[in-house]
Amino acid sequence: MAAGWAILAASFLCIASVSCQDNGQKAAELKPLINGTLPNGQRFRAASTSVDTAAYLGVLSTGPLSQPQSNATAQTGILKLGLSTSSRDGYIFVPNSYNPSKGYPMILAIHAAGKGGLDALGVLIDQANSSGIMLLAPDSRGATWDALPAQDGAFGPDIAFISAALAQSFAQYNVNAATLGVQGFSDGATYALGLGMTNGKLFAKVMANSPGGVIAERVQGMPPIFMSAGLQDDIFPINQAGNPTACYLKSVGYNVTYIQFTGKHEVPPQIASDTIQWYLGNFTGAGSIPAGVCST
Ligand SMILES: *[C@@H]1O[C@H](CO)[C@@H](O)[C@H](O)[C@H]1NC(C)=O
Ligand SMILES: *[C@@H]1O[C@H](CO)[C@@H](O)[C@H](O)[C@H]1NC(C)=O
Ligand SMILES: *[C@@H]1O[C@H](CO)[C@@H](O)[C@H](O)[C@H]1NC(C)=O
Ligand SMILES: *[C@@H]1O[C@H](CO)[C@@H](O)[C@H](O)[C@H]1NC(C)=O
Ligand SMILES: *[C@@H]1O[C@H](CO)[C@@H](O)[C@H](O)[C@H]1NC(C)=O
Repeated sequence: MAAGWAILAASFLCIASVSCQDNGQKAAELKPLINGTLPNGQRFRAASTSVDTAAYLGVLSTGPLSQPQSNATAQTGILKLGLSTSSRDGYIFVPNSYNPSKGYPMILAIHAAGKGGLDALGVLIDQANSSGIMLLAPDSRGATWDALPAQDGAFGPDIAFISAALAQSFAQYNVNAATLGVQGFSDGATYALGLGMTNGKLFAKVMANSPGGVIAERVQGMPPIFMSAGLQDDIFPINQAGNPTACYLKSVGYNVTYIQFTGKHEVPPQIASDTIQWYLGNFTGAGSIPAGVCST
């Protein structure tokens, strides 16, 4: 595992959805608070002049979302995005059952540090294939996602790339925008939480498998969150990462479903299944955190 950062759950004051405004003032309030509570003070650098303000805040812009159309030539299978001429591009997985006449569910899948879109597909593809869910798995521009401390520590280039990938998939496929999900593993889970919290009106559901913590400079909406963490996690120890992250998210008002499992830093098949079943709305125990995990 390339990711060695044990990121603590950031603490910011966004107690109820009413106070979670997606405006610049809220962002300005959140930023120093997040910065000040993290072990790595360099996490958020000053705003870069090379990216626009929205991208710097982690705000995705996707173009038109719901545009039901019949694209009879839309291909299925594992397809390259073709959005970058560099070796880092990404993939979309479209199950054979894709039918352009009805809105199809899709999950944006965020890979772990030092990995790529194919690794992200690998986590969920069997379950997504059997349940009929598209997966969109872009590659990070750098070795990991822009906002993570190992990279620049600020949202920007990855937000622009993910926006382009979403826009392309909405243009080419009949995606059910109302059920759009975002999921990730490890640093990808930390990033997926950040994307989901920041773009809470775009994503209906957020799934974080073994996140290190929370990165968000702005919050919008409050989509439900699914989290899993291994009791023997040796990369992000559960008492420093999974547990405080789940409890923090709950404490600020998110609907959190949290599972602890016997295992390390991984997504075993049963957890992949639980993740997809929760996404589909069939997970028994949705909306709960194991007893005794959160102190209050
Ligand atoms: C984050 O903290 C560092 C170290 O305390 C400080 O230099 C920097 O200005 C802070 N950044 C923000 C955005 O508050
Ligand atoms: C239909 O989908 C294919 C890829 O699967 C794409 O090349 C083509 O541009 C799409 N057509 C329209 C009208 O979006
Ligand atoms: C998806 O499932 C179908 C039917 O079982 C199978 O033929 C196909 O190989 C699967 N695709 C992937 C990418 O696993
Ligand atoms: C899960 O939910 C989906 C859609 O909400 C439904 O079609 C399906 O029958 C449910 N059960 C299983 C086992 O997937
Ligand atoms: C949380 O979400 C689950 C579905 O994921 C739902 O069953 C439950 O009622 C919700 N809890 C609250 C308090 O809204």
